[in-house]
Amino acid sequence: MTSWLRRYCNLILHRLLLAVLACVVIETSHSDENICSLPGVLSCNECLSRGPQCAWCFQEGFLDGASRAQRCNTLPNLQKKGCAVEFVEQATVTLKVNPTPPGRQVAPQDVTVQLPPGTEVSVTVEVKQLELYPVDMYYLVDVSASMQDNLNRLKTVGTGLSHRMRDYSSDFRVGFGSFVDKPVSPYINVHPSKVSNPCFDFKMQCRPTHGFMHMLSMTDNTTEFTRIMLQQGISGNMDTPEGGFDAMLQAAVCQRDIGWRPEAKRLLLVMTDQPSHLALDSKLAGIVVPHDGNCHLDSGGYTRSTSMEYPTIGQLAEKLLENSIHSIFAVEHGQYKWYEDLAPFLPGAYVGKLQAKASNLKDLVVEAYKKLLSDVEVEVGVQDQHAHRFWVNVTAVCPTGSAPSGLNKCSGVQPNQTVFFNITIGMKDCPSAPEDVLIFIRPVGFNESSVVRVRPTCHCSCGGQPGCQDELEGPECNEASGDVGCRLDGTGAVCSGRGECVCGHCICEASSLGTVHGTHCELDDFSCPYRQGRVCGGRGDCVSAACRCHSGWTGDSCQCPASTEPCLSPDGRLCSGRGRCVCGRCECDDPWSSGRFCEKCPTCDRSCQSHWKCVDCHLSKGLLEGNA
Ligand SMILES: *[C@@H]1O[C@H](CO)[C@@H](O)[C@H](O)[C@H]1NC(C)=O
Ligand SMILES: *[C@@H]1O[C@H](CO)[C@@H](O)[C@H](O)[C@H]1NC(C)=O
Ligand SMILES: *[C@@H]1O[C@H](CO)[C@@H](O)[C@H](O)[C@H]1NC(C)=O
Ligand SMILES: *[C@@H]1O[C@H](CO)[C@@H](O)[C@H](O)[C@H]1NC(C)=O
Ligand SMILES: *[C@@H]1O[C@H](CO)[C@@H](O)[C@H](O)[C@H]1NC(C)=O
Repeated sequence: MTSWLRRYCNLILHRLLLAVLACVVIETSHSDENICSLPGVLSCNECLSRGPQCAWCFQEGFLDGASRAQRCNTLPNLQKKGCAVEFVEQATVTLKVNPTPPGRQVAPQDVTVQLPPGTEVSVTVEVKQLELYPVDMYYLVDVSASMQDNLNRLKTVGTGLSHRMRDYSSDFRVGFGSFVDKPVSPYINVHPSKVSNPCFDFKMQCRPTHGFMHMLSMTDNTTEFTRIMLQQGISGNMDTPEGGFDAMLQAAVCQRDIGWRPEAKRLLLVMTDQPSHLALDSKLAGIVVPHDGNCHLDSGGYTRSTSMEYPTIGQLAEKLLENSIHSIFAVEHGQYKWYEDLAPFLPGAYVGKLQAKASNLKDLVVEAYKKLLSDVEVEVGVQDQHAHRFWVNVTAVCPTGSAPSGLNKCSGVQPNQTVFFNITIGMKDCPSAPEDVLIFIRPVGFNESSVVRVRPTCHCSCGGQPGCQDELEGPECNEASGDVGCRLDGTGAVCSGRGECVCGHCICEASSLGTVHGTHCELDDFSCPYRQGRVCGGRGDCVSAACRCHSGWTGDSCQCPASTEPCLSPDGRLCSGRGRCVCGRCECDDPWSSGRFCEKCPTCDRSCQSHWKCVDCHLSKGLLEGNA
């Protein structure tokens, strides 16, 4: 390529690039500005639902004759077009924090926010861990045959554990329940001799298989606990996994039967040597009714074991969270991995390895309790039917100062320390019905929580105003009226040639240059001079390409005050009598005078000057007399 050709090509390329860049710039600014003013908006509500930047002008007569969509725009644009700010409806975010009584662990507990679609709000919730809590612990023990050793151990270890826990709690209580599995085929052998004694093959007598049996409600009487434990025997079933989830769910939701105290930290100690069946496994036994998440106990026995599916992991997690229950899995080596994988799905869960014959049970529970207290974590839940309309971001600000970004948990929190959670809630779009949406902020394992009541602002409050009402029926058609009403002064072109006459009223055409409006489409916002960014300086109407100034103003772009008052000098004369008032300013006639009011005139008041006229007069008089 010769050098001139190369230079020429470079030049063309450069031009092309510039053109593309210009297009991109125009394109983006165009799309940014016009989300609000794109056609199609007929009401204030629709306007506000387009985005937080959109506002609606409900001023009566605003851009009369133009389509209603013109009332929807950004606030600066509406003001430019002449809408007074007091007639603008715009969505705003408000946040109201209702006071929390002193001494609470979670604050604030009651927050109300008004949120327009497309906006977000941040709420800071603080959670304080106390030093000593009352503790309730429920032993939920798998009593299938292989658990014999563990069960025996519990008969002796229970009292010791209660003593150890006195150091860590203000009041320690325990309860007890057992589980095996659903007593139906294929989980058990349904041969008549084996239903009543699943251990028949081992020439032993044992208890029938049961889904869940609650045996002892929360008590601080260790003698009573030991007495109940001594009564326990093992049971049996056929397959490996057990019905642990069925039992956990009942233990969590049957608050009254179990005797969970509202003020206590609640621990559900699950002892098992097998994984649990999951929801869909129930199909094997022909059970297809999903779990309803409710308590179904009768004389301590779970009554829906054979008619309802196992709960799903999600369902179980929700019930544990709702009832502020920490689960502690004390499992043997073989199943440790299974429970370790499960734990992240259950808020506030701890998994510990149980050694042979449950020899380390006391240490395991104490360790678990200390760990669970030192982790402070929140879960945020939006009412189900609205969950897809919201997004929530949680960031914990831990006492150590470091805020692991995007984390909802702090570890190693000491008693009396406070953790802050910065919770940002954003609403994507409006619910179909105007109702409050509740968002729950639940610190895991705490008996207190926060509720954020979101009041979506999807409706305009200017409702009763003339310019805010929804589009009325078209004007009543009167055949006789003809198009006289559509001609300016009855004689001009129909709708000034810029609209259509429908039933005696002009409907102005849309123009890509700007807005055409007025009862005869005689007004627009593009054919007249602009001043300070507003057509006719905002002080006049643009009629047939010329500014028709509002009273008090004059000039091509209505830039001049009509009155001469600004030209009156302090002595009350117009421009000190030495000039004319032009566009609100003095123009001095006398080239020697200056100043705002032509008041400065060093040569004006010399006596010679001031008597000049007299001299002139005398002279001419004398001359006249002389001539006579
Ligand atoms: C504890 O339970 C035993 C029986 O298990 C009972 O005899 C005793 O009175 C109970 N103690 C208290 C303080 O309730
Ligand atoms: C929550 O627990 C704390 C600490 O144990 C207790 O003081 C408070 O009364 C409990 N709140 C409710 C509502 O039960
Ligand atoms: C939420 O937080 C994450 C992590 O900090 C961040 O990547 C994401 O952009 C945030 N989402 C919104 C909508 O702010
Ligand atoms: C926690 O606060 C209580 C009451 O304010 C106080 O008595 C106790 O000493 C504090 N404990 C620690 C570990 O700071
Ligand atoms: C909370 O998070 C939001 C969004 O990430 C941020 O704008 C705001 O400054 C944060 N507030 C505090 C108190 O950290």
